[in-house]
Amino acid sequence: MKNIDIANKIKWVGKVDNRKVPFHRLILEKGTTYNSYLLMTEKPTVIDTVDIEFGKEYVENLREVIDPESLAYIVINHVEPDHSGALPALASKAKNAVIVTSSKGEVLLKEMYRLYNREFLVVKDGDTLDIGGATLKFFETPYLHTEETMVTYAVEEKILFPCDIFSTHIANDVLFNDLANEPYEEDFKTYYDLIMSPHRPYVQDMIKKINNLDIRLIAPSHGYILRNNVKDFINNYDQWSRISSENKPRVALVYSSMTGNTAKIAKAMAQGLEKSGVEAAIINLKNVSEEEVLNTVTNADGLLVGSSTRYGDMVGKTESFLDALSEIPAKRPAAAFGSYGWSGEAIFHVENKLKKTGFNVVDSNYLISHRGVDTNLFPLRLRFATEDGLRLAEEAGRAFGEIVLTQ
Ligand SMILES: Cc1cc2nc3c(=O)[nH]c(=O)nc-3n(C[C@H](O)[C@H](O)[C@H](O)COP(=O)(O)O)c2cc1C
Ligand SMILES: [Fe+2]
Ligand SMILES: [Fe+2]
Repeated sequence: MKNIDIANKIKWVGKVDNRKVPFHRLILEKGTTYNSYLLMTEKPTVIDTVDIEFGKEYVENLREVIDPESLAYIVINHVEPDHSGALPALASKAKNAVIVTSSKGEVLLKEMYRLYNREFLVVKDGDTLDIGGATLKFFETPYLHTEETMVTYAVEEKILFPCDIFSTHIANDVLFNDLANEPYEEDFKTYYDLIMSPHRPYVQDMIKKINNLDIRLIAPSHGYILRNNVKDFINNYDQWSRISSENKPRVALVYSSMTGNTAKIAKAMAQGLEKSGVEAAIINLKNVSEEEVLNTVTNADGLLVGSSTRYGDMVGKTESFLDALSEIPAKRPAAAFGSYGWSGEAIFHVENKLKKTGFNVVDSNYLISHRGVDTNLFPLRLRFATEDGLRLAEEAGRAFGEIVLTQ
């Protein structure tokens, strides 16, 4: 399969990879494709490239249809090297091309491929770009499935280029879903479960952004181009990512606070949890019996324990509560948080105790190895309760909610 027209002046210039590709700790038994697209307008534009292993082949192949020097733009929706990997090979030949990406994408691409001297055009939600005879519109879709991701919409041709979103891992050789010679719906769902479902709330945000677009064709970067039943695939993502009110998970947010700072942090985390679609049961240990707290924790799907630091230690009833946790079933996500002034030992004491109980303690190690997210959000250790700190607390609540939703 080579250089196929998918619309007026738009060609698929990708690569079919028939190997059993190792990917995110799985083997893609059916292989995959890396779909790259060439828009042959007055300012010729490439949208996403192919895997890093095929850079040279990709550029040689592209040369059969266009002189790379005439490329005006290279749009990178997502920086993972299965799509941006051929960028250095392409950019070295496409000397005049401006690289179009999100602000976070720019930082990552520059570092990954040492593109310090290249011209970048950073686009934000709703920005448009005239590529000479066609308009591209961009939408930021963070965490689908990494932080910098965006999607590109070709306005006149009504084509959505969502990169990893709406993809399928199949090394198909017919390109369009209506030509598929075997069922692929299950593979489409498996892909969603593997790559997108850990970020369910963000799928909902993405659907809201694309819902008003007239989409004739979805041209993702793995597997089939979806050209019939397009609405059904969007509806699938919508349905799969919804969280119904009956099965809304719950997180117990248990804390001790001397002057109210840790209480404020707990409240901000609760707001983040609600945003992710998870309910928060906030408990100030001072006001509730141990039996009642343990009951709430037993019935919750996750646990956040907070304490400020008082003379190098935890505050109030925090320690006896943590000791009592050994009486109830663990095996759920848990994390520590708290306010401090200068040393903040209590947050680590809480975390260490949680680790002994058998809860799945969420810390930076966990976030990187289970979610591919490189942050230091947990344990959430905040100096006093500043505005910035409370914003981080809300972010942490949302991140924890997502973990609970997909545990
Ligand atoms: C009696 C007392 C002892 C404290 N000891 C420590 C300490 O050892 N290390 C530290 O980092 N902060 C210490 N702090 C600062 C508090 O942890 C900080 O003010 C925090 O924001 C209080 O949060 P809270 O209102 O939730 O209790 C101490 C504060 C007080 C009042
Ligand atoms: Fe990806
Ligand atoms: Fe991908």
